[in-house]
Amino acid sequence: MSKKAVTELTVLENLPCGRNQSMLVLQGEHDLLPVKPGQFVNVEIPDNKEVFLRRPFSVFRVDEERRLLTLLVKDLGKGSHSLMQVGTGRKLNIIYPLGNGFTFPVTGDRPLAVGGGSGVAPLLFLASLAASAGIKMDVLLGARSAADHIPVNTVAEDIRCFFTTEDGSLGASGLVTDHQVMKQLDSYNRIYTCGPLPMMKAVAALAKTKSVTCEVSLENLMACGFGVCLCCIEPTVEGNQCVCTQGPVFNVNDLLWQI
Ligand SMILES: Cc1cc2nc3c(=O)[nH]c(=O)nc-3n(C[C@H](O)[C@H](O)[C@H](O)COP(=O)(O)OP(=O)(O)OC[C@H]3O[C@@H](n4cnc5c(N)ncnc54)[C@H](O)[C@@H]3O)c2cc1C
Ligand code: FES
Repeated sequence: MSKKAVTELTVLENLPCGRNQSMLVLQGEHDLLPVKPGQFVNVEIPDNKEVFLRRPFSVFRVDEERRLLTLLVKDLGKGSHSLMQVGTGRKLNIIYPLGNGFTFPVTGDRPLAVGGGSGVAPLLFLASLAASAGIKMDVLLGARSAADHIPVNTVAEDIRCFFTTEDGSLGASGLVTDHQVMKQLDSYNRIYTCGPLPMMKAVAALAKTKSVTCEVSLENLMACGFGVCLCCIEPTVEGNQCVCTQGPVFNVNDLLWQI
């Protein structure tokens, strides 16, 4: 198991990033622990007495040199809403890095990442590290409308990113599963997906029909984040597993999904 830390990071920036979404840039006082794409941090929510439990957030970006760790926070409820109000200079208590990351693609792979909602951060982190390693990963992101996407210029230039919107205001009109890329799944050998459950199931079902390896990152509700409270259980072929420690990334063949 990789080393974990309970630590305080300082909010360097908390910037609006698309409708009802913030980019939260946190800075460590000391060097950060290594974080793999797909791993997450469990954040203590400040200034809200109603939210006792930490909330898990995937890592979006790491800048080791400047000791920066960036999260994308969508306003989904009380905890995320409070985080979006946190001012610069404030210290946030986090436990990290938690869970297991995605299988990193290797040279020669043709990977595709498909995401939406709060699942965008880990996929863009993966695509960015893959690009740095010389592996081109296509990314397909879906949302209701253009304003719900992260701003296009937030996506690193070396990532080929396709967008879909349900109202046609950015990219192709419709759901990610309607996009042309999904009709060419034969040209990929690895698919990664994270986002709303119906989207991940639909992507996994298409991957299955083409026998393409598919990893999904689950966002089951969590509390402790390190395997103690058992509130994040997912049934798998190996029995019930904690998503926080055995996941959040799973090969879809290991899940008992009806797809
Ligand atoms: C491994 C992991 C990684 C995550 N990464 C991110 C991330 O990068 N960015 C991000 O914004 N969020 C992420 N989430 C979701 C996040 O942890 C919280 O669940 C979410 O912010 C809602 O918490 P809340 O306190 O705001 O809402 P609550 O007040 O706890 O809930 C409000 C409502 O939102 C619903 N809800 C809770 N979680 C979700 C969800 N994931 N999607 C849709 N509806 C939900 C609840 O059922 C409830 O109806 C991740 C979750 C997990 C498990
Ligand atoms: S969140 Fe507590 S066991 Fe997974």
